[in-house]
Amino acid sequence: MSVTLREARPEDLAVIEVVAAREELDNRQARAEEYVVAEADGVLIGFGRLLDHPEAWEIACLYVEPGRRRRRIGTRIVRALLDRTSAEKPVYAVAGMPEFFTALGFVPTEDMPASIRAKLTYCRRHFAGRVIVMRLEEGRRP
Ligand SMILES: CC(C)(COP(=O)(O)OP(=O)(O)OC[C@H]1O[C@@H](n2cnc3c(N)ncnc32)[C@H](O)[C@@H]1OP(=O)(O)O)[C@@H](O)C(=O)NCCC(=O)NCCS
Repeated sequence: MSVTLREARPEDLAVIEVVAAREELDNRQARAEEYVVAEADGVLIGFGRLLDHPEAWEIACLYVEPGRRRRRIGTRIVRALLDRTSAEKPVYAVAGMPEFFTALGFVPTEDMPASIRAKLTYCRRHFAGRVIVMRLEEGRRP
């Protein structure tokens, strides 16, 4: 079954909100244009979000349905989000699954702008899972 990616529409946000609450993903102040969604047969099976902070881009709120994992759908979503970034600002992720971001060229870092530090603090306060900050290495943008 083929999986297609597209920009999210406002009506997708209700589904994203339910999944994000269940999976402990940061969905605050969601706007459809920030999201890329993956669909199979018209059903939403994954999504990711690109946040445009003053000093950095952030890949956030990333999810693929459990039965469809390890088939590169998450990778495709992140690549589509990275295509929307400009080279002037670094790209960060506050990652609950570092292995996934390592495979894409992100490295752990302690050095981060205020917006990413605030996200880290939020995740540590509100979510149970362990998270670390990762930054996309220079030259690894698609
Ligand atoms: C993170 C997530 C989006 C990855 O989606 P996915 O479509 O399965 O990812 P991909 O198939 O593109 O994985 C690419 C690579 O990342 C790494 N990877 C992905 N999932 C992994 C896991 N559970 N354990 C170890 N490495 C993993 C592997 O190197 C993988 O390549 P491989 O399958 O050839 O070994 C998905 O697991 C998910 O929704 N998790 C729950 C929500 C979550 O944790 N979101 C925040 C992530 S920081």
